[in-house]
Amino acid sequence: MFAIALDGPAGAGKSTVAKMAATRLGMHYVDTGAMYRTLAYDMLRRHVDIGREDEVARALEQIRIRIVYDENVQRMFLGEEEVTDRIRTPQVGEATSTIAVYRAVRDKLLALQRDLAKEYEVIMDGRDIGTTILPDAPLKVYLTADAKQRGRRRFLELEEKEPGKHTLEETIQAIKDRDERDMNREIAPLRKAADAIVLDTTHMTAQQAADALVQMAQEARGR
Ligand code: DC
Repeated sequence: MFAIALDGPAGAGKSTVAKMAATRLGMHYVDTGAMYRTLAYDMLRRHVDIGREDEVARALEQIRIRIVYDENVQRMFLGEEEVTDRIRTPQVGEATSTIAVYRAVRDKLLALQRDLAKEYEVIMDGRDIGTTILPDAPLKVYLTADAKQRGRRRFLELEEKEPGKHTLEETIQAIKDRDERDMNREIAPLRKAADAIVLDTTHMTAQQAADALVQMAQEARGR
């Protein structure tokens, strides 16, 4: 089955670009970060000590994560409760990066992600898709941009949601801290796969990056 593995650091524009490209290519957009976020969100509200791997592993057994695709929008559920929008906060993002280092967490989501790629043609967005989840994907793209630019984009998004609550400096620093954690963890760290094409979006609009991705996909499909 044709698949695109799309990896890269926080704020590189993966989800925006992947959504645009998926619609044009008639593919399924899969946001794996949302799956990790859903687990972290549930643990935060249940006051699980996320610094402790054994506590996190125990909490995981109680979580029933569900994904529903609705006109190519990925909706996240905990049991019957929809949490799609609630997982999009900086606090949940931080906690997600903390629990994403644990083996039990990654194992829980690995099979789920591979099964989706068996069922649909996917553009799968994450950190370890090209290296670990779909190592045989016919197209792997590593989407990146410099940290200041990524921080600026994140800041503008936050300003729209919660005006005046964050500063640009603090947002750039948070992006750098997250990179550090995601790249240096032991299991499935953020890393460019050896055969991935790098797409640097520092000086590109989302539309330009989506155009480039669509072109790569068309070439890879034709191979
Ligand atoms: O892409 P995002 O901001 O929603 O991701 C949130 C966190 O989840 C990020 O800090 C790293 C982690 N993550 C991961 O470890 N592996 C993935 N495939 C996707 C996300």
